[in-house]
Amino acid sequence: MRVLILAAGLGKRMKSKYPKVMHKIMGKELINWVIDTAKKLNPSKIGVVLGHKSEMVKEILPSDVEIFYQNKQLGTGHAVMSAKEFITDEDVLILYGDTPLITENTLKKLIDKHKNTNADATILTAILDNPTGYGRIIKNEKGEFINIVEEADTTDDQKKIKEVNSGFVVFKGSKLLEGLLKIKPNNNQGEYYLTDVPKYLDNVETYILEDFSESLGINNRIQLAEAEKIMKEKTLKNLMLNGVTIIDPDTTYISPEVKIGQDTIIHPMTFIFGKTEIGEDCEIGPMTRVINCKIGDNVKILRSECEEATIENNVSVGPYSRLRTGTVLKNNVKIGNFVETKKTIINKNTKAQHLTYLGDAEIGEDTNIGAGTITCNYDGKNKHKTYIGNRVFVGSNSALVAPLKIDDDSLIGAGSTITQNIPKGALALGRAKQITKEEWVFKKREKGE
Ligand code: UD1
Ligand code: MG
Repeated sequence: MRVLILAAGLGKRMKSKYPKVMHKIMGKELINWVIDTAKKLNPSKIGVVLGHKSEMVKEILPSDVEIFYQNKQLGTGHAVMSAKEFITDEDVLILYGDTPLITENTLKKLIDKHKNTNADATILTAILDNPTGYGRIIKNEKGEFINIVEEADTTDDQKKIKEVNSGFVVFKGSKLLEGLLKIKPNNNQGEYYLTDVPKYLDNVETYILEDFSESLGINNRIQLAEAEKIMKEKTLKNLMLNGVTIIDPDTTYISPEVKIGQDTIIHPMTFIFGKTEIGEDCEIGPMTRVINCKIGDNVKILRSECEEATIENNVSVGPYSRLRTGTVLKNNVKIGNFVETKKTIINKNTKAQHLTYLGDAEIGEDTNIGAGTITCNYDGKNKHKTYIGNRVFVGSNSALVAPLKIDDDSLIGAGSTITQNIPKGALALGRAKQITKEEWVFKKREKGE
């Protein structure tokens, strides 16, 4: 089976400089939600039809999709025709790029019905209380499919029909090609409707969607917010039913791709996106953002930002810290308040508790990084590495000018600027010697100064 995703439309109602399918929910573009769902069906190929500002959309697409261009948006049938060479004898599933809530499960059921009935086309439909705006499914008294009538072309009687076209449909490739040659733009919108193809086919089936929200198409920013809300509510319910505590579902945003273990507690105002995995017995939040992180068991992250970090077990982070890309925290590490890390590996039992920047560094076990320590990793042109060994004590307010190797069991005096490597077990001081002038203050006072 192949999947073709239509995404050439203008999206005028978004009132945006950006193509509609580039708008995001849960931190991911609408089109990429559809592509990722399509991938789960293991199709032989995925094609995307682009039009409006296609160069911008192309930038955010994965490299393994085939791109087709529809230069003028003359309708959904015309969009499919623009990808004519993509359509072969294989079955083709047509999806829309602005419908991010569709699930793998539903599409599988649609495809199963298509295969089991050996249909020429199988249309995913929905029964709606308010069908306004959608194409209506016209059936005969035996319940057999006749055709689809678009809202703009309906008679008053047809307007009352509650079964609508969701837009998702599987075709036998050869039948789709035959049908596309027959459609004409002689309708009230002057468009080539893909929905006109099924009426030319002999054997058309419909499959009624159980949860209509899955077919929600995003046409404006109100629907964008609605889709985010629906996706989030479903995800949170699922997590709660599987043993995760969500203290305030109203202010918690978790993407359906995220995995969270039993007895983990998610505090309010927390956002967890991307391919994040969190273990058991963790406490995340409040006011925390976690994106694409791998987190072990019994980890606490308080009021912090974490992106593309790997965190092992029994680690604590925050409040007010920022773990950036390439951060690795091994078991029992403690990262305290106002600490920033980037491309840094911190081994077990090491602590950096206050006001610190650790970038391009590798730090051993049982080491203490004092308050205000800075790895000076950037010389204005290049980035350099800092190695800090095991059981090292870095005194407060030290500036470590990379490249640097600070060996095991060494000690750096507070306030040092370190520019040279430090051997094992050594004491290093890099600060001006203290001058003390006894009685100085009292003498000044006597002089009345
Ligand atoms: C379409 C269906 C309608 C269905 C509804 C469900 C047709 C003619 N109508 O209507 O039966 O009930 O979806 O939401 O198919 N697109 C292109 N090129 C074009 C036109 C559209 O790529 O020339 C893409 C759009 O980017 C969008 C999708 O096709 O992703 C659907 O287009 P849209 O204009 O939203 O169709 P609807 O009027 O909503
Ligand atoms: Mg639409």
